[in-house]
Amino acid sequence: MFTVAKGKMRVLGIESSCDESAVAVVDDAAGLLAHRLYSQVDLHRLYGGVVPELAARDHVRRLLPLVRETLAAAGSRPAELGGVAFTAGPGLVGALLTGAALAQALAWGWGLPVIGVHHLEGHLLAPLLEDPAPEFPHLALLVSGGHTMLIDARGIGQYRLLGETRDDAAGEAFDKTAKLLGLPYPGGPELARLASHGHPGRFRFPRPMLDRPGLEFSFSGLKTAVMLAVKGQELTPALKADVACAVQDAIVDTLCAKALRGLEATGYATLVVAGGVGANRSLRARLTAAAEERGARVYYPRPEFCTDNAAMIALAGLHRLRAGERSPRALRVRARWNIAELAPPGATGAP
Ligand code: KG4
Ligand code: ZN
Repeated sequence: MFTVAKGKMRVLGIESSCDESAVAVVDDAAGLLAHRLYSQVDLHRLYGGVVPELAARDHVRRLLPLVRETLAAAGSRPAELGGVAFTAGPGLVGALLTGAALAQALAWGWGLPVIGVHHLEGHLLAPLLEDPAPEFPHLALLVSGGHTMLIDARGIGQYRLLGETRDDAAGEAFDKTAKLLGLPYPGGPELARLASHGHPGRFRFPRPMLDRPGLEFSFSGLKTAVMLAVKGQELTPALKADVACAVQDAIVDTLCAKALRGLEATGYATLVVAGGVGANRSLRARLTAAAEERGARVYYPRPEFCTDNAAMIALAGLHRLRAGERSPRALRVRARWNIAELAPPGATGAP
């Protein structure tokens, strides 16, 4: 089995699950050495969403030059690497395959072990790149474009799902309501920007599932509520800003209330926030204040590591490779992959 002593492993990570091509090098002694990202957002804007085939083709164009650039920025030669990590799922199959193929080819050529990483584990571990890093066990609020989950994280690879969304994810709610308001793609960050100019109180949208016990979410009703609120009205900049403000408030309120409920249910005093919506300033401010009031502490990745990146993939891969775990030399990716299926590092192969 492949083992490297602590302080001796450096991993190249590749992320290509959706519309960001990203590469990073993480070293277990020196931390993050370099990371590079190419966002395909301009490519997909024309279509108002990610076109899977175009995403895959663009990853093929972008990834290898990014690898060269990142290794140079890290001052690292391939011979200094201990392994290659790539996102093996969940995600768009074609896009995932481009990263998997490149990772396998590089690992084969360089004589290195390779590991397929769960994209959401990457998100969950991203706060560990910061100082101070959160300790386990903790409660994790994972809020991305495809997922809204509260997770009891007892250790790396030990994730128990406490609650998730029944329909749209929080990021999806941001994106879809932004589309209704005619905001440019990608809608989430645009809506958040606009919300800061809005007047709170002009609109109030439902806080779904808050009236019921439990840790489940539901955001699909927001679209209808927004549609009804703006029906027959001219979408002036002021109206859009007021609606954006109310949408953000409804989503943030719901996420805060459920996260606090999760802390109460687990008895944990540490909350970790991960995923693209974790970059939202209002969410960060409100969660931090609410948790502090209850004697809990919230940990976030830096905003650029809330959204998709390769630093989190390299880090998750490092933990697993260091424990002797490796993936077979085969092209295997998974469009769907339940995070609760993961085991602690070293326990089994992945994916
Ligand atoms: O984690 P991520 O980059 O990709 C997935 O794995 O899904 O999350 C992307 C999601 C999108 O829905 C995007 O609109 C949302 O995160 N997002 C935001 C912000 N930045 C990204 N939502 C609200 N406020 C933001 N500042
Ligand atoms: Zn993601």
